[in-house]
Amino acid sequence: MANAILDKFKEEAVETKTYDADKKNKVGIIGTGWIAEAHLKAYQQCPDVQFVGMADLVPGKAEAFCDQFGVDKTGINFYNSHKELIDNEELDCVSVCTYNATHAECTIYALEHGVNVLLEKPMCVTLEEAVAICKAEKASGKVLSIGFQPRFDPNMQMVKKIVESGELGEIYYIQTGGGRRRGIPTPFGTSFIEKETAGLGALGDIGCYSLDMVLNAIGYPKPLTVSGYKSDFFGKSTKYSNKPEYADIFGVDDFAAGFVRLEGGIILDFRIAWAMHLDTSGDTIILGKHGGLRIPSTECWNGSIGGPMTIYHDVAGKQVETVIPELDNPYDNFYLKIRSFLDASMNGGEPPVPSSQIIYNQAIIDGIAKSAELGREIEIEIPEI
Ligand SMILES: NC(=O)c1ccc[n+]([C@@H]2O[C@H](COP(=O)([O-])OP(=O)(O)OC[C@H]3O[C@@H](n4cnc5c(N)ncnc54)[C@H](O)[C@@H]3O)[C@@H](O)[C@H]2O)c1
Repeated sequence: MANAILDKFKEEAVETKTYDADKKNKVGIIGTGWIAEAHLKAYQQCPDVQFVGMADLVPGKAEAFCDQFGVDKTGINFYNSHKELIDNEELDCVSVCTYNATHAECTIYALEHGVNVLLEKPMCVTLEEAVAICKAEKASGKVLSIGFQPRFDPNMQMVKKIVESGELGEIYYIQTGGGRRRGIPTPFGTSFIEKETAGLGALGDIGCYSLDMVLNAIGYPKPLTVSGYKSDFFGKSTKYSNKPEYADIFGVDDFAAGFVRLEGGIILDFRIAWAMHLDTSGDTIILGKHGGLRIPSTECWNGSIGGPMTIYHDVAGKQVETVIPELDNPYDNFYLKIRSFLDASMNGGEPPVPSSQIIYNQAIIDGIAKSAELGREIEIEIPEI
């Protein structure tokens, strides 16, 4: 049968228009490094966006960024800090694309000045910073969304749908994480590996994604206690590091693991690696009283699935496996991350990835780091916002 006939039955991805292209959102970008390109390109697909300002601590970098990507600079002003940008422009929305260590100060300053914020992942470096961000958000009444684009991947959404369907029953154990045999990120300099700029290594950088995948699926229960471990054997080594010249300045973790107790009696067993003597640290598994879900790991953990997921369950007394086919995403996850943030900001909706969830993600990361330093299990205490 001709494909054209069969194709009639394919579900068409129809985007509901949520914006008025004549009503421009005044947008700024803070930090014009590597990830800012993805924000820029996604904003460029939104006819209701007008760039009014960009900022980077490195003089000339924001302007050069526009030149590199052929942006018409008419009407765009350039600044050398987030404060200058926010003080001088009437912004509706801003993307915070700075390295982790300045996430909190840029976000809090923007919220305090009445600007909606899309903040790149990880939320920040410490739990204390996350609490300060959430307080600033609450006081501002503005929208704050955290930049977890895998949330928009239909396969990630499927993980949540499977858990919510009840097919697995009550969840009691989760193993998650990810890893790379060699993959310390230094493509554009050292901001990911220096303590002063990154604050966290693999634990924050890619760990936050694997935590979000499972915690979002099970409704983000509160973390209660954590026993953590972290190491830096690869980053500090001139033998194994992919950039041996950076061994002296490597100041973060390249491997981390944690054993976390979550509210509801759920155990979360987690490990993450930028580098190790192994190809993968294992698939993600979610065990429930009626079924188990295996989510194959990707070779280089990037917040997507590495193949079809499998549900292990009993049907009519027989142990069977149900394979969930991989789903295509008709849209770019980055576009959806930006579009949904703009829609929430302009229409007064809920943030697509709310800080009320991601504070628990940050609390686990922070708990692993602090427990690792103390060498013992700790209780996670999150103050009222
Ligand atoms: N969502 C994703 O897929 C993804 C991918 C890569 C990086 N990231 C995240 O994006 C963030 C940035 O990563 P990157 O690779 O672009 O880093 P980068 O070092 O290339 O760029 C960060 C830029 O921010 C600037 N900056 C820092 N503080 C500033 C301030 N107060 N005001 C103005 N500019 C400031 C720096 O000068 C630098 O140019 C990190 O938190 C990282 O985890 C997300």
